[in-house]
Amino acid sequence: MKIAIYDNAEQVAEQAADIICQKINGKPNAVLGLATGRTPLNTYQQLINRYKQASVDFSQVSSFNLDEYLGVKPNSENSYRFYMNENLFKHLNIKLENTAVPSADEDNTMQTCHQYEQQIKQCGGIDIQLLGLGSNGHIGFNEPSSSFASRTRVVALASSTLSDNSDLLTSQEQTIDKAISMGIATILESKEIVIIALGKAKAQAVAAAIEGALSASCPASCLQMHANVTWLLDQESSSLLTQKHYYQLSQQLLA
Ligand code: F6R
Repeated sequence: MKIAIYDNAEQVAEQAADIICQKINGKPNAVLGLATGRTPLNTYQQLINRYKQASVDFSQVSSFNLDEYLGVKPNSENSYRFYMNENLFKHLNIKLENTAVPSADEDNTMQTCHQYEQQIKQCGGIDIQLLGLGSNGHIGFNEPSSSFASRTRVVALASSTLSDNSDLLTSQEQTIDKAISMGIATILESKEIVIIALGKAKAQAVAAAIEGALSASCPASCLQMHANVTWLLDQESSSLLTQKHYYQLSQQLLA
């Protein structure tokens, strides 16, 4: 794993956007895996800036989002489809029909999950997957206890996830307690993975994922098994790493 530690969130976002733009510039029809939440917002702004400066072209790019709340309509402000349209897609020349978010009602979930996996395969797989990290170590909505062999499926959200995300949800919606999420095995099939973690609230999960044992109790520890993973961290999220000095040395030597 490459572990890169930066002074602040802005530098992390620039680095993440650099990696994604390099991928698209080398492969104009790249398939992106995308995340929602607070963490990627600066990265998405960087991608928008670069598109506006004409240094990247999204016209042939396609994308798959990691997850979506179950039963939430795509046009609801709480949906991840809404988030993606507002925070990224509508500012780029990506074709909306080439962007996928795993939306489903309660009654057709099996079919949706199966089709999502098929769609990813038909596109040739995900070239680069962007991940955030839950404070409980989740990636996507693969909560602690998720099998490393899991695929896209319906998951129950952990109470810590619901409380972490409560201020992002508008209240008028029905109870949100489940989601559709790409599985851990689905994520591990991505050719390259970039995971961002920012702030003190992520420090424990970062340390468990990078330096702890492989364990379903910390789903992000599965990334230790992937051959092309880059962790982009700020000072706070990396504060509990015991080998931080070594990672910084490697970062300098390999730059
Ligand atoms: C979002 C997702 C989640 C978030 C994680 C961190 O699509 O899959 O794993 O990346 O919960 O959320 P933030 O960035 O809000 O701290």
